[in-house]
Amino acid sequence: MNVITVNDEQEMSVRGSLILFDEIKRNPELVLGVATGGTPAGTYEHLVDKVLNEKLDLSKVTTVNLDEYVGLARDHEESYWRYIYEHLYEPLNLLPDRALVPDGLSEDLQAECLRYEKVIEQADGVDLQILGVGRNGHIGFNEPGTSFESKTHVVDLTESTREANARFFERKEEVPTQAITVGISTIMKSRSILLLASGPEKSEAVHALLSGRIDQNWPVTVLNEHPSVTLIVTKDALEKGEEDSNDQ
Ligand code: GLP
Repeated sequence: MNVITVNDEQEMSVRGSLILFDEIKRNPELVLGVATGGTPAGTYEHLVDKVLNEKLDLSKVTTVNLDEYVGLARDHEESYWRYIYEHLYEPLNLLPDRALVPDGLSEDLQAECLRYEKVIEQADGVDLQILGVGRNGHIGFNEPGTSFESKTHVVDLTESTREANARFFERKEEVPTQAITVGISTIMKSRSILLLASGPEKSEAVHALLSGRIDQNWPVTVLNEHPSVTLIVTKDALEKGEEDSNDQ
């Protein structure tokens, strides 16, 4: 694993955006796996600025969302379809016709998971997967305990994940209880992975990963088995929290 330590979130976002920019420049038909949430937002912002400044053509890039909430319509403010539209397609003035996102409103969620898995296969898989990590080590919405063999599936979100995401909604009760997520085995098929982690609340997950162990209770640790991972991590996400040091 290539570990890049940075001072803060701003530096993480700039470094991340440069990696994305270079990859798209090298392969204008890149299939880009996109994470949502707070962590990659700055990376997308810097990428958009650089793409507009340097007039890079993103019209042939395909984006593959990692996950989507069950029960939210595309145009819901907190849907992940809307997230990727607002963070990439809208500011770049691109039609979202290459934005692949699971349909969280599907009446047959199992069939939707199979369809999405096929769609990724038909795109010839993900070239570069951007990932954030949950406080409990989840990647996508693959919560602790998820099989490393999993493909796209429906998940019941843990209370801690719903609490962490409540900041994006008016009330915690509005956070959906389920989501569709690309599975761990699908993530592992990506040709390369860019993992971003910032903030002390991520330090336990980062430490689990950097310990080198592979532990189903910390889904992010599966990345120790992937041949091409770059981790950009802020100093505060590397430091052990006070609770940890008090324990010693
Ligand atoms: C979210 C998303 C993940 C994201 C993670 C961390 O719920 N489903 O794709 O990486 O949890 O989120 P954040 O970056 O907001 O801390």
